[in-house]
Amino acid sequence: MSHASSWEQVLDYSNRANPYPFYAELRRSPVTRLPDGTYLVSTYAEIASLLHDPRVSSEISRNPATAAAGVSAEEGDGADMTPTFLSMDPPDHDKFRRMTMRHFGPPTTPGRIAGLEPRMEEIVTELIDKMAGRSRIDVVDELAYPLPVTVICELLGVPPSDRQRFRVWVDIALQSIDPGLDPETQQKKRAEAGAELRAFMEELVESHRKSPGDDMLSAMATDDSPEGSLPAEQLVGTGLLLLIAGHETTVNLIANGALTLLRHPQELQRLRNDPDLAIPMVEELLRYEPPVHFVPFRTALDDIDIGGTTIPAGASFTLLLAAANRDPAHVTDPDLFIPDRPNNGHLGFGGGIHLCFGAPLARLEAQIALTGFASRIENPRLVDDPPPYRPSPFLRGPSHLLVEIDDISG
Ligand code: HEM
Repeated sequence: MSHASSWEQVLDYSNRANPYPFYAELRRSPVTRLPDGTYLVSTYAEIASLLHDPRVSSEISRNPATAAAGVSAEEGDGADMTPTFLSMDPPDHDKFRRMTMRHFGPPTTPGRIAGLEPRMEEIVTELIDKMAGRSRIDVVDELAYPLPVTVICELLGVPPSDRQRFRVWVDIALQSIDPGLDPETQQKKRAEAGAELRAFMEELVESHRKSPGDDMLSAMATDDSPEGSLPAEQLVGTGLLLLIAGHETTVNLIANGALTLLRHPQELQRLRNDPDLAIPMVEELLRYEPPVHFVPFRTALDDIDIGGTTIPAGASFTLLLAAANRDPAHVTDPDLFIPDRPNNGHLGFGGGIHLCFGAPLARLEAQIALTGFASRIENPRLVDDPPPYRPSPFLRGPSHLLVEIDDISG
């Protein structure tokens, strides 16, 4: 099979449950040039190197692939919004990331995420309590989705009444970053959903500025530190980035995690007996079934010689994180799920200057959710294997995960 057709197979929805054999094909050459002139990078060493290479840009406006596909700079972040630090290069990236990070974690706000742990435990307990007396549950709708959404909304200060409103908009707006979609057909719907999301966040930022609470949006909107507040449009864009990036991916980590445990009952039992196993297990899940399969929209600022190929200046490329995570040159027995294997650096959270900002939050949520799942659900059995998947090959995870259970304990 040619490399271009292996990539088509990855994008093809019928392979969503198991794209890994196609990634193995792609890894036979570290860098592949596709017929449209863009490139794929599929091996660990090459991806790790490019993630740290200053000749690589994340700016959407530089990217010929997005321009040709009719994706505007605004849409590149996944919703109709001004580019945020996710799609900026230094120095703006570093400045806006620092101004946002200040309200999220160390060194300025060290307690914010760790302080959420008891609340996460409480939410997971409540969600599992609600499953009492049932013989069938949907792990996506009843655990994997509600936990991260509730947590990110409470962290940012999104009122409970607003939480149902944005789910539909987010689903539509996110389609803009999926490769292989016809740009014409969905464009109008995406633009409308993006505009709704933006209006929603503008209102929220405004109300938090006027009457600030003890949440992250309020802190961002009223920042009086020497560097000051983010510019108004950055505040709205960053609020949306955190809201969307802050739950979409974590839903998939929890759902992929529960699925993997159901397929490895011995590991499920081990976690039930030893909750500390959750820490290495979540790292292994980020390697073995990562929620983010690739990062598209990178552009070479100069000719880059890599993996025996030259990616020419101006060309755009995609980094296949999920392929790198199973590269046998980097990890032994890559297709086996071994929760306590030595962690020699997965790329589940990317790397380099764009390394996931929310990793500590996502890790904690997944550890708590999966420990609750393993310790309290009695005799869980997968109903459909494979389960149905969400459309995206990029943010990949089950749409539903039906499980038969005997009961819940404790
Ligand atoms: C399991 C859950 C998560 C996964 C797998 C994940 C994955 C990633 C990846 C691969 C990147 C790098 C993107 C790139 O290089 O272009 C990234 C960046 C980012 N993530 Fe996450 N993420 C997760 C959860 C979160 C959460 C909970 C938040 C927010 C609270 C968040 C906020 C961000 C932000 C703001 C960036 C951009 C960082 C930058 O450009 O400097 N993520 N994430």
